[in-house]
Amino acid sequence: MGPDAQPNAKPAVSRRRVLRWLLGFSVISTAAMVVTPMVGFIVPPKSTAAGSGGKVPAGKVADLPLGKGKVVPMGSKPVILVSTEQGIVAHSAICTHLGCIVAFDDLSGMIVCPCHDGRFNPATGAVVSGPPPAPLPHVTVSVEGDDIFLVPG
Ligand code: FES
Repeated sequence: MGPDAQPNAKPAVSRRRVLRWLLGFSVISTAAMVVTPMVGFIVPPKSTAAGSGGKVPAGKVADLPLGKGKVVPMGSKPVILVSTEQGIVAHSAICTHLGCIVAFDDLSGMIVCPCHDGRFNPATGAVVSGPPPAPLPHVTVSVEGDDIFLVPG
């Protein structure tokens, strides 16, 4: 304590004031944690299907070299795009076995499900091996210049 300090002087910020501020902060943050998910539920996210006459932009042709594939969103559903000798094709990326999301395997050139090693033909979506009971459903693709669009069915 310095020579000018007074032993009974009140601190600049009282303990009660700090506690009141902390209580207010916790009430506001709790309310935000409750309200934010409710608003997110009531106000739907913007769909990627808006505009372009219902077609969904899915990237550029230049970004999908021949023999490669990638999963892209079509609204809330995943779709796998594959560049084949016959052009760019698309299939649902939801495995017909138990619903895992498939991926394109660069090594084998196949569409592969990571859950139970189901394998699909990249051009047709047909089952090649594994437990999937049905092919991946086809999704219509429209290529306009360098732009790839998915056409919801
Ligand atoms: S969920 Fe795809 S093979 Fe089982």
